[in-house]
Amino acid sequence: MDSHKLTERQQREREYYSQFSDKNAVKDITFDPVLGTESRPWNSYWFMYECVLREYQKGRRTLLDFGCGNGASAVRFAKIGFDVCGFDITPNNIELGHSLAEKYGLRDNVDLSVRVAENTSYLDEQFDIIVGIDILHHIEIKVAIKECHRILKNGGVAIFREHVEAPLLDRIRNMQFITKFFSKEKSFDNHITEDERKLVVDDINDIKEVFPNIEIKRFLLFSRIDRFIRKPDNKRPSLLEKIDHFLFTYLPFLRVFGGGVVIVVRK
Ligand SMILES: C[S@@+](CC[C@H](N)C(=O)[O-])C[C@H]1O[C@@H](n2cnc3c(N)ncnc32)[C@H](O)[C@@H]1O
Repeated sequence: MDSHKLTERQQREREYYSQFSDKNAVKDITFDPVLGTESRPWNSYWFMYECVLREYQKGRRTLLDFGCGNGASAVRFAKIGFDVCGFDITPNNIELGHSLAEKYGLRDNVDLSVRVAENTSYLDEQFDIIVGIDILHHIEIKVAIKECHRILKNGGVAIFREHVEAPLLDRIRNMQFITKFFSKEKSFDNHITEDERKLVVDDINDIKEVFPNIEIKRFLLFSRIDRFIRKPDNKRPSLLEKIDHFLFTYLPFLRVFGGGVVIVVRK
């Protein structure tokens, strides 16, 4: 894909992730969330993988990783048994993804390419399932969601894991004296791009307009502070995530304060 055809936002994203991927190249991945031996419904990523596993058990086979990044998830989906396609705007992510697939003996099952989410050029109704992980908040959602609808088979399912704004909590988060200590500016250390922004109610409504059949599950209330108190390499279950899960289950009015979502839409 020629970079001169990209919008300014797309170019900025590509430049950012070209550098980010170089600095954070993933060499090993864990398959724990897709082995089906352990369930962690309180963690949005594990929950998302569980949803994907269920779709495989229902007989869906062709999967698109929508904005696949370094390909780690694409390789996990291939491990489940899917025929995986994936795309990303950043060319070195695609190379990294293919190397990972090669390393785990899944290269024949993973076909990644450089494309943009807003106009993928895949065929109409090509995929049984589309999975997008932390991608919607980087792209033009209104356009990209129509593209998802176009390339998803009738009867297909799309699953997105995303960051969303929570009333009050994000107003506090955006106050000047808080952002002074916890910056929201572009940063490689904090993994923040210049243009990314959490989903708001209007974005969810735009998704609903294209996919009226939608389910949204909320995560992340007290576990927001995990990133400050837990070591990044601690892969054990988080107590705060379990507490959030309990609260969201038994006190549904709290769900609106959840800062993470898994969105499941059906065509
Ligand atoms: C937060 S990362 C998530 C990547 C991957 N899904 C994961 O879970 O690791 C966001 C990704 O979006 C890609 N991206 C940004 N804008 C894009 C666009 N318009 N089309 C396709 N990919 C895009 C970036 O290159 C980056 O890999």
